[in-house]
Amino acid sequence: MKVVSIVSRKGGVGKTSLSINIATAAALKKKEVALIDLDPQCSAAKWGDSREAEYPAVISCQAPRLENVLEAAKENGADFVVIDSAPHSESATLAAIRAADLILIPCQPSILDLRAIADTIDLVNLAKKTATVVLNAVPTRGSLGDEAAEAIKEYKVPIAPVRIFERTAFVRCLSAGLAVMEYEPKGKAAEEISQLYKWTCKQVKL
Ligand SMILES: Nc1ncnc2c1ncn2[C@@H]1O[C@H](COP(=O)(O)OP(=O)(O)O)[C@@H](O)[C@H]1O
Ligand SMILES: [Mg+2]
Repeated sequence: MKVVSIVSRKGGVGKTSLSINIATAAALKKKEVALIDLDPQCSAAKWGDSREAEYPAVISCQAPRLENVLEAAKENGADFVVIDSAPHSESATLAAIRAADLILIPCQPSILDLRAIADTIDLVNLAKKTATVVLNAVPTRGSLGDEAAEAIKEYKVPIAPVRIFERTAFVRCLSAGLAVMEYEPKGKAAEEISQLYKWTCKQVKL
């Protein structure tokens, strides 16, 4: 069972969006997927409740129970787990980091997000792990994405080769209780998530 944790100490960077979309991409590829929501705001869990599809299984849990929930997921045959973490809880972020085979830090190309990744990287270092930044909600026009990638070099962390652009499908799919691959299977957002999922699988050897 492989565990991918999506973490950031900042809210609104795309943790939940990437979590639900990567988890659904895996489910559509017939993986046994569990999406664990550590955020007390339960955004991923509420999205799960609003869906008709039974996949991915979405489990809301608090950080101290993460180990038990992961154990149960393994016993139930899960082969892929995505953890959506909570921004304002250091313990939840650390628990997600410690449990992970792959740690992704979503970051939008804005100075506020770029500054905030330092706090998240501190926790990753504390746990003696490494993380990869995923540029999210990159404007389709202009050079902000490249400028952000340049600025991230300072933190000496890798950046995922796949960028996720700013696309309305990511917002619209949520109200429909869908992921972008279900909402607009042939859309650009779906293609980007498909690429990010493939890259993720390669990283964790799934
Ligand atoms: N790539 C994207 N393009 C457009 N909107 C996005 C994108 N990623 C996230 N969003 C929107 O940004 C907001 C915050 O995203 P969310 O995933 O909830 O962040 P977090 O979980 O880090 O707080 C949501 O309204 C979401 O729909
Ligand atoms: Mg969230």
